[in-house]
Formats: sequence, structure tokens, C-alpha cells
Amino acid sequence: MSRFTEITSRKGTRSVKWDYAEELYKSDEVLPMWVADMDFQAPEAVVEALEKRVKHGIFGYTMPDDLIKESIVSWLSNRHQWAIEKDWITYSPGVIPSLHMIIQSLTEPSDSIIIQTPVYPPFYSVIKDHERKLVTNTLIYENEEYSINFTDFENKIRENNVKMFILCNPHNPVGRVWTKEELRKLSEICLRHNVLIVSDEIHADLIFKPYTHIPIASLSDEINHSTITCFSPTKTFNLAGLQASYIVTSDEEKRKKVKAHFDKQGMFMLNTLGLTAMEAAYNHGGEWLDELMETLERNRDYVTERINSETEEIRVIHAEGTYLIWLDCRKLNLTHSELKSFMQKEAKIGLNDGGTFGEEGQGFMRINIAAPLKTVQEGVDRIIQAVKNHRG
Ligand SMILES: Cc1ncc(COP(=O)(O)O)c(C=O)c1O
Repeated sequence: MSRFTEITSRKGTRSVKWDYAEELYKSDEVLPMWVADMDFQAPEAVVEALEKRVKHGIFGYTMPDDLIKESIVSWLSNRHQWAIEKDWITYSPGVIPSLHMIIQSLTEPSDSIIIQTPVYPPFYSVIKDHERKLVTNTLIYENEEYSINFTDFENKIRENNVKMFILCNPHNPVGRVWTKEELRKLSEICLRHNVLIVSDEIHADLIFKPYTHIPIASLSDEINHSTITCFSPTKTFNLAGLQASYIVTSDEEKRKKVKAHFDKQGMFMLNTLGLTAMEAAYNHGGEWLDELMETLERNRDYVTERINSETEEIRVIHAEGTYLIWLDCRKLNLTHSELKSFMQKEAKIGLNDGGTFGEEGQGFMRINIAAPLKTVQEGVDRIIQAVKNHRG
């Protein structure tokens, strides 16, 4: 378990989370628990494969071959019971670049695209950047639980002649792993109105017991045909800096259009080390991932139990998946900018600002729990102490 208990300093590695935090929070005392990467070393098999590749010393243009596709096919089949064909895969440096390319190649300017909010901030910008019309379907928040407003989803699609739906499953930041029933209802509405589903499943492998991730495209052939899914091993195995991901779609026409758009931007090569890491992670990272999930589950329970029992002002939303926990801080009775300042200056903790996930995130913050328990304990202590001082 040492990979998950030892604290490895990330300072001085050009880490966004640790090195950029000082600039962002204007203090070197802030404990960074923001941005979605982990303070854990990647699986040994990945590091070994990279070392071997680095030792070769030649880093010329690299071509992904069928072996990498085979490792993706087995991973999706073994972990998610989804049988895909090798030809359905298109590589991409990242899920965000994929979303940009998909929107540009499969919609027209001023087309409407729907998202479910609050949601990962780039979901807004990928739509606005290309002058598409942003349509939002606010998630229902009741009794500290999130669910989908299907009536509003269908009405908004109908009223705005929506062409595309970008789904976040599991959902960042609210931590929901959408059920088969929920996914089925969403896809039925999309099929009824001819809406293309783009499913961001980057957090698919980070699921807590007893929940199960279901790729929406796996529900039926018809849904598969009108869905494009974005996956990546980078969240799962902490490889974000290596930039390797892929898109899966069974519809050849859509696949060709998206691929042509990547080519048009000059993006037809992948990072040599990213490919090496992806293959090693999928072929040999399963055990590491199982251990990771035990660690994350323990961290999630620790954060939830301590904050929910020692404060009334902050409610920890139960996460079914992801290592990102959504905190409802509204009972602190602070304005949103006071809340941000409270976390930064009083608690001295670097969290993601809930307001960046949409207007529904006012009064909320997001904490990243993918760190050794000692770091998580320190973060929780800081938050609880600051709340107690605030009461006094
Ligand atoms: C839902 C979601 N999609 C995409 C990304 C980023 O993907 P990438 O680094 O592959 O562009 C993140 C990172 O936090 C995310 O949470």
C-alpha cells in the first residue's frame, strides 16, 4: 500500500496543483486540494514501461498500432462489460481537445448544445468558444442528493432544437454515477429528438462500491450508433501530463468527420510516452486501480464522516464515483466571494471554486481527496478549525 500512503513531494515538478497553487492562491501556506490529478505515483508497470522506452533514447514520430487498440478493447470489455470493435477507436491528446473537435465537426455555428449543470467548467467553454448556443438542464438538488430533471431536459431540447448533448458520467462535480434507468431515459429522449450524445466518461474507472459505471453507448445498438464516447486512462492512472486519450464511436461517418477535423488542425500524431503509458496501464494496472479505489473510498468516508459530524455548516455530498467531492457550504452564510476567501485565507486550503461549475455552484466548493490520508486529514482539520473559529 506504500504508493498510496507515502507523501511524495510534487513541488518543483512544474505541477499545476502544487507549483501553480502558490501563484493562484498568493500564498505558500495553502494546502492544494484542487485540480483533478492525484498525489499518488502511477502503477509500477507504467513507470517501468516508460523507463524502458526512455532508455531507448530515440523519440521520433510514433504511430499507435493495433496492440494499443487491443489493450483498450480488453479494458472496456473487462472493466465495463462493453464489447467494442478496434475500428471504433480514434486517438486524441485529451478529452477536452476531443470535445472541441467533436463540436466543430458535427455541429454548425449557432446549433444548440445541452449540458447538465453544475458541471465541469470546460463544458461551457467548448460550446461558447465555437459560437454554439449553450442550453442548460439544471440537476435537481434535494436532501443533499442530485438527480435529473427529465421533463426540463426534454422541454429544453424541444424548445431550443438541440442537436447535441454532452453528458458527464460519472458526473464532475456532484459525484453521481448515473444508473442504467437514468441513462436509458436520457438516451430515449435524445433518440426521440435526434440529439447526438457525446459522453465524457473520463472518470469511468473511478467508481465506489456498490455502484457500477455503464457506458451509455452500451445500452443498445441504436444508442451506440448515436453516441460518441470520450475515454482516457489519464484520470484513472494519474497520467494527465502525458496526454493520451481516445474517442469511441461505432458510426463510421461521424468517426471520419471527427478524425478529418483532427487532421485539419494538424493533430494526427500522439505523444510517444503517452501511448506507452496507456498500453502499460491498461494491460497491467488493474490491481493498482483496485488498491487505489480502496484508498479513495477510505478517504471519502473520512472526509464525509468528519465534516458532516463536526460541522453543521458544511454538507459533504455523497460521491458514488470520482475523487472529487462536492461541498455544500451555504450554511456558513457567506457570500460566494467571502466563501472563497474563507477557504483560502482562514482554512488555508486550495479548493476549486464551486461558482466556476455554473450558477448552481454558488456557495459550494470542490475538494480533491486523491492524496495520502495524512494530507486529507490535514485538509479536513484546517476546514473544521476554520469553521469553529468562524462560529466564535
Ligand atoms: C469530466 C472531465 N472531462 C475532461 C477532463 C480533462 O480531460 P483531459 O485532461 O483529457 O483533456 C476532466 C479533468 O478533470 C474532467 O473532469
